[in-house]
Amino acid sequence: MPGVFQLSLKEIVDDAQRAQDVGLQAVLLFGIPERKDEQASSAYAENGVVQKALQAIKGKCPGLIAITDVCLCEYMSHGHCGVTRVDGDHFHVLNDETVELLIKTALSHAAAGADLVAPSDMMDGRIGAIRNALDAGGFDQTGIMSYAAKFASAFYGPFREAAESPPQFGDRRSYQLDYANADEALREVALDIDEGADIVMVKPALPYIDILWRVHERFKKPTAAYHVSGEYAMLKAAAEKGIVEERVAVIEIMTALRRAGADIIITYWARELAKWLRE
Ligand code: PBG
Ligand code: ZN
Repeated sequence: MPGVFQLSLKEIVDDAQRAQDVGLQAVLLFGIPERKDEQASSAYAENGVVQKALQAIKGKCPGLIAITDVCLCEYMSHGHCGVTRVDGDHFHVLNDETVELLIKTALSHAAAGADLVAPSDMMDGRIGAIRNALDAGGFDQTGIMSYAAKFASAFYGPFREAAESPPQFGDRRSYQLDYANADEALREVALDIDEGADIVMVKPALPYIDILWRVHERFKKPTAAYHVSGEYAMLKAAAEKGIVEERVAVIEIMTALRRAGADIIITYWARELAKWLRE
């Protein structure tokens, strides 16, 4: 991903400071652990990379909202978002076992200072389970941004490469949404809101602008759109070839997302965009 880098703990604090300086309100953290295993142990380790980054960022920029991606794929040796069982040619993602590990992960992020946790795995019941665990653990002020309508998409490729998390076998269609099915997406959003999501997200963004609009209109909840890595990389490549003018095209797309109901936009252009919009 051109212009997007893995950051060390030291670099991430400087980056957070820069984000705050250009007027961004929040950062979304993803971790890449030293070791991956089949229980994703580094995801919920007290001294895991996200936990340490949270402490460092909150120490330097207490006013910056820190959101953490809660998922196991970066921490699993097989790259899936949950605990898996392989039977011959098939594999299953074990929902309940996965939710237990997601709870541990969310609690460890909250303890390290996360303002919101953002479960991105799409397992059933995870929002309610995490909400209950946070409340029981004394973290009733920690919010949840749910990746509520996350579609199985061709546009996550550059992220998976950057996060070193492509699935080693199979794909994610057993747990991410079928993009032909809008009603199912709306049902998933309704469930996540019932279970206690504070913010609901639609992902990817531009090919799902109809879903974004429907979610925003129907549920009247803070709605986030995630403009994903493939969407970013495509436009970057087009700009490099002189097909579009980057700044003009980015502002047009982000305006379209706002028009379609995005209260929050997650984008790899955030820092530049914040500057462009001020000029
Ligand atoms: C992990 C996760 C993914 C993204 C965000 N969290 C990848 C995936 O589901 O395969 C994608 C982000 C992007 O493409 O920018 N669950
Ligand atoms: Zn995942």
